[in-house]
Amino acid sequence: MSGKLITIEGIDGSGKTSLIRYLEEHYTHQRYVFTVEPTHSWIGMDVRRAIESDVDPLAELFLFMADHAQHLDSVIRPAIVDDKIVISDRYSDSRCAYQGVTLEPVRPGAFDWVEGLHEGWTVVPDLTILLDVDVDVALSRCGSRDAMTKFEKKDFLNGVAKNYRTLAKRHPERFAVVDASMPFEDVVKMVVGLVDGVADVG
Ligand code: TYD
Repeated sequence: MSGKLITIEGIDGSGKTSLIRYLEEHYTHQRYVFTVEPTHSWIGMDVRRAIESDVDPLAELFLFMADHAQHLDSVIRPAIVDDKIVISDRYSDSRCAYQGVTLEPVRPGAFDWVEGLHEGWTVVPDLTILLDVDVDVALSRCGSRDAMTKFEKKDFLNGVAKNYRTLAKRHPERFAVVDASMPFEDVVKMVVGLVDGVADVG
């Protein structure tokens, strides 16, 4: 395999959506493929339905995993074989970070367990860019879009952010942590430098 896989991760309100929009306009060459989890396949649509309803957290995890398997088969592996630079808006680390929190009450040790579930069949990213931002800043950016109260959401996002930082420490060879509280232009400059660094190699 000769292409590269770059994943972009961060908590809700980290500025990920604006960043991805910028990157899509910046990297217009056909070598760049933009993709997302949950995907736009029918499995991904079911995942989105599950997120919006009160589905069992284990059922939700396995829907996310099914979507990941299909994503690897239909998008990620073919693009990498075809020498593309794949940029994925969320990927396996979202599962460890988010489901690590939602599953902890029903499956203690969920964070490590979810990471282990990916081993041996997933495609490990060449670079994972983590947009790291204080939860209060993130909350002020995303407002209250869902059913959770502000305090529930804060607790939840603190757990997710902690899991992301643990992943970054555990996998320093692929993680680049970018301070997303910087002005957007600075975040962009740093991310473009990181992407170009990976795209230019091999
Ligand atoms: P989305 O509206 O795409 O959010 P965002 O723009 O922040 O990416 O919804 C995706 C939500 O699903 C987001 O809150 C993160 C969550 N998620 C998981 O909990 N586990 C996962 O494996 C993935 C890919 C996403």
